Amino acid sequence: MKNNAKPDATPGPDPVLNALRESDGPVSGEALAARLGLSRAAVWKRINRLKTRGYAVEGSPRRGYRLLGVPDRLLPEEILSGLQVRHLRGPIHYFDCLPSTNDLAKELGAQNAPEGTLVVAEAQSRGRGRLGRQWDSPARVGLYVSLLLRPEIPPLDLPQITLTAAVAVARALKRASGVAVGIKWPNDLLLAGKKLGGILTEMESESDRIRHLVIGLGLNVNTLEFPPELSELATSLAVATGCVHSRLRILQAYLVEFEILYQRFLAQEFQGILEEWKAYTVTLGQDVTVRQGQLEVRGLALEVAPDGALLIRTREGEVIRVTSGEIAW
Ligand code: BTN
Repeated sequence: MKNNAKPDATPGPDPVLNALRESDGPVSGEALAARLGLSRAAVWKRINRLKTRGYAVEGSPRRGYRLLGVPDRLLPEEILSGLQVRHLRGPIHYFDCLPSTNDLAKELGAQNAPEGTLVVAEAQSRGRGRLGRQWDSPARVGLYVSLLLRPEIPPLDLPQITLTAAVAVARALKRASGVAVGIKWPNDLLLAGKKLGGILTEMESESDRIRHLVIGLGLNVNTLEFPPELSELATSLAVATGCVHSRLRILQAYLVEFEILYQRFLAQEFQGILEEWKAYTVTLGQDVTVRQGQLEVRGLALEVAPDGALLIRTREGEVIRVTSGEIAW
């Protein structure tokens, strides 16, 4: 692996943590060991590991262990706890800081990591946005996650997956935070007219099939300050709603919603997903300017074609299909 950060992949929930969670009062090390089929030393080791990861575990020699608090981190065991996802279940690679979760997910993809592999970082030092931009990724206030997928689809269908992910985020935000976001074509997530998040989909492909693809989601959740150049353009859930939101609940909701939609996508039901995307979009019916490198297309955003391309009617009445690029702000 080119990346120097040490991966921390968790294959499943931590049984000691789960036992502490489920218990109403303190549990002795002996009882935990007996219930979980572990030695007492192994229980003790796991308790210490939990503490170093930020869990508040009270331990008293007479009464036993009690979970007093969980850290505000996107730890794999927290993500997996109660997660209603069947297929896209990890492994989860978790880091305090990474250059870019997409970069690592792509490397893992090249090393045959399974579909559903998730890379999560609390911060990114070189987070990447679309069109070669930087993605500001301050620590512990946002979601920076990348999901590895291996669908058997042609590369041309990639935009459909990105639109599907945008719908999953919109659904997740409604469910986990009660916030209704808009989608700006193709996949900018907007709140109060400003950018709340975005999706960067990247793939490794042969001529007619995708080898693997990575969906990177960046979401400003509890960010309170933005760099000056972004302050007019970007927002966060905390700024827009005035309260702190659970990054964990949003991530879990996103994984659940994405799995449901991805199964529909694989079952050739993209048209239904596209209809839902249209219900969220703020682009259709607007006068827009789309930039594609040096090229600029101006006109009325008429419709999104079945493959996800934007159809624009220019002043001259010509209808132009745009498959990539971005709408100017
Ligand atoms: C956009 O430009 O709108 C897309 C932003 C995507 C940012 C996310 S953060 C997690 C993942 N890792 C990256 O380096 N980029 C994506």
